[in-house]
Order: sequence, then structure tokens, then C-alpha cells
Amino acid sequence: MQNIKLGFIGFGNMAQAMVKGLLLKEVLPADQIYACAKNWEKLERTTGSFGIHPCHDAREVAEQTDLVIVAVKPYLVKEVLEPVRDVLKEKAIVSVAAGLLFEQYEEILGTGYHHLSTQPNTPVSVGEGVFVCENRHSLTAEQFETFQNVFSNISLVQLVDTRQFGIAGVIGGCGPAYGAMFIEALADAAVLYGLPRELSYALASQMLAGTGKMQVETKTHPGAMKDAVCSPGGITIKGVAELERKGFRGAVIDAIDAVMRK
Ligand SMILES: NC(=O)c1ccc[n+]([C@@H]2O[C@H](COP(=O)([O-])OP(=O)(O)OC[C@H]3O[C@@H](n4cnc5c(N)ncnc54)[C@H](OP(=O)(O)O)[C@@H]3O)[C@@H](O)[C@H]2O)c1
Repeated sequence: MQNIKLGFIGFGNMAQAMVKGLLLKEVLPADQIYACAKNWEKLERTTGSFGIHPCHDAREVAEQTDLVIVAVKPYLVKEVLEPVRDVLKEKAIVSVAAGLLFEQYEEILGTGYHHLSTQPNTPVSVGEGVFVCENRHSLTAEQFETFQNVFSNISLVQLVDTRQFGIAGVIGGCGPAYGAMFIEALADAAVLYGLPRELSYALASQMLAGTGKMQVETKTHPGAMKDAVCSPGGITIKGVAELERKGFRGAVIDAIDAVMRK
């Protein structure tokens, strides 16, 4: 990792979440990371808090680095990249801008550039993210390997077909909101029964993190994981039956369906 220089064009919530995770997991030292944004004073504060290099503009980021993460809002990508196309020619360009896939980048940059479209999620900040990547990309094998070597330390780096990119990104990107709602609801129920609020969150969150980790590591069918904690006539199955009566799984599927139909 000692030769990799990583740059961020745009240093808002998503870029900072990535830097937080990379520094937390000691993937790269801060002095190998560069970032630019629109507001210089704000950028000095945010980059200063991480100890990374502030850059005056996208050109400076592209000149200083080899792996360039495009992390501005999607509607700004064309405006920000077009003036610096000359310095991006040999760089690995990784976009996190929602909805901009290979085809759109070919239109923005023209042919002959090395780019990859992705959809990360905010748990990258604690090293437990999801990085959905479009399998149609133009990074060289070496550039993709470098990207993977860096970001697999803080996320599951998952290549998917272009036609599956949307739904995969929704599960990874919107999922944290639904997971957080489940944690909050469990904690509210715990508070209803007298447990302190902080303790309720700690228990609910660790339960969800542990359940997810167990599924990831054992690949056990989620239904079998549910069955394993439901003894016949026991208390857990009573809760399962109530969740089914309230349409829990249908509500989750409808929520994803609503996002996909947006
Ligand atoms: N947030 C998420 O959970 C999430 C998840 C997946 C993907 N994404 C994608 O990540 C991208 C960034 O989202 P975000 O939530 O991080 O947005 P954000 O917090 O608003 O950050 C956007 C950044 O772009 C900078 N910027 C604006 N104009 C610029 C310019 N002309 N040159 C250089 N930088 C400029 C902003 O600078 P100032 O702050 O100085 O204005 C800010 O640092 C979006 O494309 C989004 O689709 C976000």
C-alpha cells in the first residue's frame, strides 16, 4: 500500500466515511490521501481533522494521486471532471455518484479513460461497508486490484452486472436506514419494559451486527437461523407469529419495491 496515493474529488459525507474507515483500519496513512471540495475553509477543517492533504481543486487531486474517487453529487460530475480530463487519462477513476454508470462516464469523459462506477454505503466508516461495483468498467486489471486491495479492508467489494447494479445498490445503500429503524424499534420496546435507552441500543445493535456476521461467516439460510432460536411452543416463535401477522417481511419487500419504482 505504500505507493498508493488516493484522491477524493468532493469531500462530503461519503468521502469522509471512506477516509474514516481507511484510517481506522490503518489501510493507508493519512499523508497518502488527498481531497478537494468547494468551500476551502470547510475543507481545511475536515481534512485537518483526519490529517490528510487539502487540495485547491480537482486538478490538484488528479495530479497528486493515482486512484481518484469522484464523490461530488451526480449532477456536478460532468462540470467537475470535464476541465480536468487531460490529467485523468492514466488515472483510475472510481465514481461513487449514484446512478452514473459506465455509459454515462463514457459520455462525460470520452473513450480511453479508466473508470469504474460504484455504490458504497456509510458503514465503510467502521470498516463494515458494502461497495457495489458495476462489472462493466475500464480499469486495468492492476488498477482494479489496487482498488480492491484498498477498499476490501473496509467493505465487501462486490462486482455485479449493470442490470443488477440498481437493486444491489439499494440493498447496500438504503439498507442501513431500515436496519437503524429496526434497532430503534427494538430499543423502544426495551425501554417500554424499563431498560435504559443506551443499553437498549447497545443490545439491539450488537444483536443485529452479530446476526449479520453469523450469516456472512456460516452462509446459513436465514430461515434456518430463525428456526434455530424458535423452540416448539417457546417464546421466540410467538414473536415470529406476531411479526408475520403484522406483515413484517411483506413490508420490507414493499419498501425495497417502492425504492426501485421511484
Ligand atoms: N451519502 C451517502 O450515503 C452516499 C452513498 C452512496 C453514494 N453517495 C454518493 O456520493 C456522492 C457524494 O454524496 P455525499 O452524501 O457525500 O454529498 P455531500 O456531503 O454533499 O458532499 C459533496 C461534496 O462535493 C463537494 N463539491 C461540490 N462542488 C464541488 C466542486 N465544484 N469541486 C469539488 N468538490 C465539490 C462538496 O464541497 P462543499 O462541502 O465545500 O460544498 C462536498 O465536499 C454523491 O454522488 C452520492 O450519490 C452517497
